[in-house]
Amino acid sequence: MKKKKKVQIIAPASTANLGPGFDCLGLGLGLYHTLNVCEGDGAGLEIRASGEGAETVSLDSGNMVYQAMMKVFSSAGYKPGKLLIESHNEIPLASGLGSSAAAQVVGLSAAMLLSEQSLDRRRLIRMGVEMEGHADNVVACVLGGLTVVGSSGEKIDYVRLEPPKSLGIVAVVPDFNLSTERARSVLPREVAFRDAVHNQSRVGLLVAALAGNRLESLRPAMEDVLHQPYRAGLIPGLEDVRQAALEAGALGAALSGAGPTILALVSAHKASVGEAMKGAWARRGVECRSLALQVDMTGLKAEMEGR
Ligand code: HSE
Repeated sequence: MKKKKKVQIIAPASTANLGPGFDCLGLGLGLYHTLNVCEGDGAGLEIRASGEGAETVSLDSGNMVYQAMMKVFSSAGYKPGKLLIESHNEIPLASGLGSSAAAQVVGLSAAMLLSEQSLDRRRLIRMGVEMEGHADNVVACVLGGLTVVGSSGEKIDYVRLEPPKSLGIVAVVPDFNLSTERARSVLPREVAFRDAVHNQSRVGLLVAALAGNRLESLRPAMEDVLHQPYRAGLIPGLEDVRQAALEAGALGAALSGAGPTILALVSAHKASVGEAMKGAWARRGVECRSLALQVDMTGLKAEMEGR
């Protein structure tokens, strides 16, 4: 007979790129996916979902959290008992806020604990990247703070830094979704050398500005020519909304990950920045909501009852 086990895992949303840092920069965001899993005697699966996307996510073996759990169970040769999976998700789906990275990270972590494996963050990141494909969101989700990733093939190198505590985020989420696959399909296969140099210098400036609390340098540091100009055709009003954020006093603004959410970094004037961005989108006929968020500095949190 299996002993009853319970785990609770909480993982944050994340934003990738921050403008120039395509596929390498990430930031944890204070918006969460909370997973409670109870494993009991017998066999069977029950999945309950609430929050963002609850009406659309699969509640059977096609569920993303469950699939992540099964990846860990199968690699360990572990046969789970009866599973009750309760997932509460605050992160808008397919919006560029790392919802799938968080879903996979909570699932992988829950299964590691239930199958009595240690929660090795490096292994978690590797498995998360295998499932998700994008290391920038996975690393920011697991570690929180500001993360810098360099990955080639299976090797993933990363460094976590602390952005200034005064840094706030305004994320404006439009009422349409955009898959990362679609947003990557419009990118060029090659770019001009001057464009590569432009972005790599901005990434250096951006990391230095955030790690060194030089927030006045964020605006030039967040300029990008590698992906946003190509994605603008998929996101009506991208440039107008970015400009509206800057005019309303944002420190910098960019597409969040592959979009369509647009994100502003702020130190104050949060409400007016959000209102200005919403107004710019409304003028293009796009409805949206604005979220005022903190940077998540903690990353993944996991607890197993009785441990
Ligand atoms: N860096 C990715 C992209 C976002 O811009 O396509 C998802 O990690």
